[in-house]
Amino acid sequence: MTAFSCILGIETSCDETAASVVLRRDDGRGEILSDVVLSQLDEHSAYGGVVPEIAARAHVEALDTLVEEALLRSNVTLRDIDAIAATAGPGLIGGLLVGLMTGKAIARATGKPLYAINHLEGHALTARLTDKLTFPYLMLLVSGGHTQLVLVRGVGDYERWGTTIDDALGEAFDKTAKLLGLPYPGGPEVERAAAGGDPKRFNFPRPLVGEARLDFSFSGLKTAVRQAAEGLAPVSSQDIFDICASFQRAIGRTLEDRIGRGLQRFKHEFPETEDLPALVVAGGVAANQHIRAVLTALCEKNGFRFVAPPHRLCTDNAVMIAWAGLERMALDLPVDDLDVSPRSRWPLDNQAKALIGFGRRGAKA
Ligand code: KG4
Ligand code: ZN
Repeated sequence: MTAFSCILGIETSCDETAASVVLRRDDGRGEILSDVVLSQLDEHSAYGGVVPEIAARAHVEALDTLVEEALLRSNVTLRDIDAIAATAGPGLIGGLLVGLMTGKAIARATGKPLYAINHLEGHALTARLTDKLTFPYLMLLVSGGHTQLVLVRGVGDYERWGTTIDDALGEAFDKTAKLLGLPYPGGPEVERAAAGGDPKRFNFPRPLVGEARLDFSFSGLKTAVRQAAEGLAPVSSQDIFDICASFQRAIGRTLEDRIGRGLQRFKHEFPETEDLPALVVAGGVAANQHIRAVLTALCEKNGFRFVAPPHRLCTDNAVMIAWAGLERMALDLPVDDLDVSPRSRWPLDNQAKALIGFGRRGAKA
């Protein structure tokens, strides 16, 4: 029996082309041997969002080289790899086809097994690689395509406690930036502008706050931002700063309420966890310092550990895909047939109902 396993991961579900080699020792410790990510930001920024056809073409052009690069940097060859893990969904179908077909081709050529990985599972399990978390824990995924609070009970065992009924949180940031004339992607721009603004100048709505369900809604907030900007037109720089600061404050307050309820529910359902209970954050919006501060304080107040993997592993990457494959392999979960198809929609929690809109722009995760 070997002391470790090694997987080549491939990620192409949205606008990052990524390949990585990750190793998992039999004691559960992981090691990232390589992590190569090529962002397509420049290709898409002129359009103010991800263009699926451009994304798919860019994946085709980059992926072979990236896989070679990942192998080279990790100092292993395909012979040393135990399996291939490729994202099979959810995401933009063109990109998923490119990554999954490449994974299948390598699997066929080498005779190694293939794991068709759910991208959201990749996000959900990352903290086990970075912070050795034990099950169960809560994960808040806040990206351009998703806003979900998920109970992670085990590998392949997820329960969605809350999701957005309209825009994803990153999408709300991007749309707010757009209507204020700030560049794409809007999240970092809004955060920068907010730093110079008065968070109390506008009292923006906080939809669903106070409700027992753990869902989110951000489209009303976006409308309120538009109305504020239209009411002031032409907006000054200070107006923009104040709107961004007030917008961010409304988001912070909303998360405080929604996630606070989630933490309480977790404590109620799991009164005795082995370690301090944990809230893990993932997705590009996790970079936001205000949101981090809110979540950190909330966790402290509720006796939770706040776990934020390094930013590079919070956004889309292939490390998390390889790691999800390794977790599946360690449990002897079934590998996938080479005729497995990509799925643009693929909820983590099969029991959860799709809510109206449910926060998917294109199919970014
Ligand atoms: O996870 P990610 O890199 O890509 C996917 O959506 O898959 O997330 C990108 C999203 C964008 O909507 C971007 O505006 C947002 O994350 N974002 C931020 C910040 N940095 C990135 N939102 C708020 N504050 C930030 N600092
Ligand atoms: Zn993602």
